[in-house]
Amino acid sequence: MAAARVAGLFFCVALLASAGLGQSLAGKWTQPGRTLDNGEQQKWLLELKQNGNLLTGTLKSLDYAVELKGTATGTHFELFALWEPARPFLTGDLVDGELHGMERGRRPVTAKPATAADDIPTVSYIEPPALHNVANNGLAKTPPMGWNSWNLFAGKVDDQTVRTMADAMVTSGMRDAGYIYLNIDDTWEGVRDAEGNLESNHKFPDMKALADYVHSKGLKLGIYSGPGPRTCAGYPASYGHEEQDAKTWAAWGVDYLKYDWCSARNIYKNDALQPVYQKMGAALQATGRPIVYSLCEYGWGNVEKWGPAVGGNLWRTTGDIRDEWSSMMENVEKQVPTAPYAGPGHWNDPDMLEIGNGHMTDDEYRTHMSLWALVASPLLAGNDVRTMTDVTKAILLNKEVIAVDQDALGKQASPLKNGDLETWVKPLADGGVAVGVVNLGQAAAQATVKASDLGLDGTVKKARDLWAHADVKFAGGAYSATVPSHGVLLLRVSAR
Ligand code: GLA
Repeated sequence: MAAARVAGLFFCVALLASAGLGQSLAGKWTQPGRTLDNGEQQKWLLELKQNGNLLTGTLKSLDYAVELKGTATGTHFELFALWEPARPFLTGDLVDGELHGMERGRRPVTAKPATAADDIPTVSYIEPPALHNVANNGLAKTPPMGWNSWNLFAGKVDDQTVRTMADAMVTSGMRDAGYIYLNIDDTWEGVRDAEGNLESNHKFPDMKALADYVHSKGLKLGIYSGPGPRTCAGYPASYGHEEQDAKTWAAWGVDYLKYDWCSARNIYKNDALQPVYQKMGAALQATGRPIVYSLCEYGWGNVEKWGPAVGGNLWRTTGDIRDEWSSMMENVEKQVPTAPYAGPGHWNDPDMLEIGNGHMTDDEYRTHMSLWALVASPLLAGNDVRTMTDVTKAILLNKEVIAVDQDALGKQASPLKNGDLETWVKPLADGGVAVGVVNLGQAAAQATVKASDLGLDGTVKKARDLWAHADVKFAGGAYSATVPSHGVLLLRVSAR
């Protein structure tokens, strides 16, 4: 009898196991991450709780933490991020004591049970400061111009790249055209020393020497960090070290800071954006060194309304640009609601230039340059200035277009649509206007600019095509020209 009961019990357990029931997904799971340039290993830690077939948990890395919720069906699991209920964040199966699956449908996961060594330290909350105004630093009276490493080099930027780029900024004529700032983006960061000072990693052996070199070329140096514990690429950022980092950069001779929200979103809600950005604005000011302050928080929380109050000179209004027509147009059109907030000392930033990076046509790149100038955007080249083609040079170094961007009035154009033709008019300090007609269509089209649409006081006295570098004549109060698909007609018109 007893033997029969034991056999029955054994049969039930075997049945449960074969159905996958009773195999809990609960626990901590880890998989090795990539090694960063500062020697730290990126981490991945999934902590799961299971109640019946319901799963809840957190996925953490050095730079993000995601709350997850989902279901287990036997050994199979499906987990969703709370902000994205339509698409599974993590799916997979428990196989031989390991989790095998996919993160966000594209990143394979093989996770083993974690030990205490795999824990990721929890970051304690730091209360944002009370609001106050950070005085304007008097910089960026016109939109900042320069070069930034991210669009082309991303994590592959190093000291040698920056030095050779500095040389090329001079020999190519970029510096003399106004492209002054040489900005190192993410992945320069090392680790903090015993006193908490953030060092650069092996790719940048001596930041002070690099700054001296850049300055010796008549250029200025920019650097990158963020208000969270980690940057977007997972490197240490300035959370809790704001004043210390600002002092370090000032001592190195840094002239420009791009400050990227990234992992701050795991700590703060959007209502903390202003005080958190103010903290670094005040820290930069306290160094006594003039440092352009670039806010990078993708346009969240109406940054255009409070950017100047935190000492900001420019702020991103969009997500990251990609080297493609649709992304470029989407970014510039998102500028429209922020137009009234641009002006000397504080600019909307639809992200860095992709001109010369190879995935748009020359016409599209001319449109990119024209639109960035019309909306008074910062002009931060993102290509390899050392090897740029004559066409790329002619676009980036078009002095007449740069003059539109750098116009002292600092007004930002907005578009008027007429079918596939989109007209942008920017008032200029001399009483004239710059007008761009962009052809969004797939075929060439005839663009007509009417003097009456330009808001000019008087009749057109002078008009110039800024890409043809030639004066043109308004006849009967209008000027017409053929514009290629995705191309632009860009005129400078004056009534005096
Ligand atoms: C974010 C920013 C980018 C770049 C990367 C670096 O995505 O928007 O411009 O700085 O981070 O990690």
